[in-house]
Amino acid sequence: MHEYKINQYIKSSDYSKSPFRYPGGKFYALKHIIPFLDVVKHDEYREPFVGGGSVFFGKKKVESNWINDIEPEIINVYDQLSNDAKFIHFKDLFNNEIASKDRHKQVRDLSVNSELERAFKTYYLNRTSYSGIINKPAWGYKDGKSSPPENWKNFLLNANKKLQDVKVTNLDFEKVINAKSKSKDVLMYLDPPYFLADQKRAYTKSFELNDHNRLMKTLKNTKYKFCLSYDDCKEIRELYNWANIYEKSWLYNTANSNGESRMKGNELIITNYSVIL
Ligand SMILES: C[S@@+](CC[C@H](N)C(=O)[O-])C[C@H]1O[C@@H](n2cnc3c(N)ncnc32)[C@H](O)[C@@H]1O
Repeated sequence: MHEYKINQYIKSSDYSKSPFRYPGGKFYALKHIIPFLDVVKHDEYREPFVGGGSVFFGKKKVESNWINDIEPEIINVYDQLSNDAKFIHFKDLFNNEIASKDRHKQVRDLSVNSELERAFKTYYLNRTSYSGIINKPAWGYKDGKSSPPENWKNFLLNANKKLQDVKVTNLDFEKVINAKSKSKDVLMYLDPPYFLADQKRAYTKSFELNDHNRLMKTLKNTKYKFCLSYDDCKEIRELYNWANIYEKSWLYNTANSNGESRMKGNELIITNYSVIL
C-alpha cells in the first residue's frame, strides 16, 4: 500500500486567509491539516462542510474545486463572491462602512429582500458578531483587535479571485461525497461539526448522532481519498477504527460568557490513505 510522507511544516499564518470569521474555523490548524492534503496527488478537490473556508482559502487550487455547506446564508455570500456579475455590486456595499454597536443592531434588524441584501447582512454580522456567529448574532467587535471595515473590501477582493471557477453548492454532505466524477484523483477534506461540542448556537442545523453515523458510512463506501478532522473522543475513535487516525492538538477560538478565548484542543485527523509523519 502506498504511503505518503509529510516532511514540511510551515506556520498557519503563511497560508492565505478566509474572508470570514467562523465558529469552528480551522485557521490555527492549517499547518497540521494542509500537509495531509498536499501529499496526495489530486485534480479534483471537494469540501462538503466548507463553513468559513479556512482550508479551502489556505490550500492551493487544483483543476476542479467544489465547496459546499448546508448553511444557506454563508453559501449565499460565497455565491456573491464567486459570480463576477454579482460581485461588482456586492463589494461596493462595504464602502464607508462602520463597525459600531448601533450599526450592528441596525443591520441585525434589517429585513432583506434580495440575495444581495441577505449577503450584505450576513457578511456585516459575521465580521462584527461574537465568534462570527450569524445565526444568533451578538455584538462582538473589538476596536484594535478585530479587523476594521476598511480591510473588509480587500478580504472580499482576494476571495473573489480565489473563487473563480469554483463550484459552490448548498447541499447535504452526502450528495457531495457521492457525486460521480470523471477524475480518478478526487480528494475531499471534511470538517463536520464536532461530536462533543455544543453547537446549537453556532450553526442553523444541528448535527445529530445519526448524521455522524451517516457520514462514517458514506466515507467507508467512497472510492475517493478523504481527510477528516474531528474532536478526539472515544466515540469517533470507535466509528473510524477501520481508517488511519492521527492525533494532533491545535488552538481554536471559543465563545463563552467571559468573551472569546483561544483553547487548545485534542483533535484527530482521519484518512483513508496512509501518511508517514
Ligand atoms: C466545523 S464547521 C466547518 C468550519 C470550516 N472548516 C472553517 O474553517 O471555517 C462545520 C460546518 O458544517 C456545516 N454542516 C452541518 N451539517 C451539514 C450537512 N448535513 N451537510 C453539509 N454541511 C453541514 C455547518 O453549517 C458548518 O458550516
